[in-house]
Amino acid sequence: MRLKDKIAIVTGAGAGMGKATSLLFAKEGASIVVNDINEKTAGETAKEVEALGRPTLAIRADVSSYAETRGMVENVLAQFGRVDILVNNAGIGDVKKFIEITENDWDRILSVNLKSVFNCTQAVVSGMIARRSGRIISISSVAGLTGTPTHVHYSAAKGGIVAFTKALAKEVGQYGITVNAVAPGMVETGFGGGAPDSIKQLYKEKTVLGRVGQPEEIAAACLYLASEDGSYITGQVLSPNGGYFI
Ligand SMILES: NC(=O)c1ccc[n+]([C@@H]2O[C@H](COP(=O)([O-])OP(=O)(O)OC[C@H]3O[C@@H](n4cnc5c(N)ncnc54)[C@H](O)[C@@H]3O)[C@@H](O)[C@H]2O)c1
Repeated sequence: MRLKDKIAIVTGAGAGMGKATSLLFAKEGASIVVNDINEKTAGETAKEVEALGRPTLAIRADVSSYAETRGMVENVLAQFGRVDILVNNAGIGDVKKFIEITENDWDRILSVNLKSVFNCTQAVVSGMIARRSGRIISISSVAGLTGTPTHVHYSAAKGGIVAFTKALAKEVGQYGITVNAVAPGMVETGFGGGAPDSIKQLYKEKTVLGRVGQPEEIAAACLYLASEDGSYITGQVLSPNGGYFI
């Protein structure tokens, strides 16, 4: 087991990649804090973690809220005493031409996709510094590497995660903490209501493997970075994207 007795928080773990990551980490021996803004789906993932024989805690919190995130982490520390691994996975999409993006759209997309990474990471990092170990993994996107039209706000948030990752890795490496990002290509989840077939087809044509990814394939990248296998990797972006060439 590659994560034996580790304590992991996975945000947005009620569905998609967060759920797949929670279940894979649990199979590898970790206790899982299942966060989601959706209480019902968080509870469902937690039940599946429990069925794998691992301790778990479902916490409904909106990670774009600084106060709610602090409350969540206090609750985790009270129950588990520490956080070894944080997976900043919660995110939302929004398809809109640049000129149609409202101030409200901009603030919402930046808050949920980028401010959440600040909120969660800052809440756990002091404990990691004190223990001289920790793993922080944030889910970016190919949109944050290459830019995606009609996703300018989303691309800016996901690109922000890349810069956040590189900067923080330099600041906390001295404490034995690794900070990395995973930037998936298109993955088959319910994200943004699920991509229409026409977009999936376009993605397949621009991808050397000729298919979209599965949530378990992104979870595997997170496991690599969270486990001892990733012990000498920090400040990096791992992009499981099927060979996307744009
Ligand atoms: N699906 C893709 O093609 C794709 C590609 C690249 C990157 N991503 C990124 O991967 C991550 C996971 O996406 P997914 O495809 O699994 O999506 P998903 O919609 O299946 O799951 C996202 C989860 O996050 C939760 N969530 C949303 N806002 C939240 C908030 N404020 N606080 C807490 N939880 C919240 C949702 O309730 C949901 O359960 C996201 O950051 C997304 O931007 C997705």
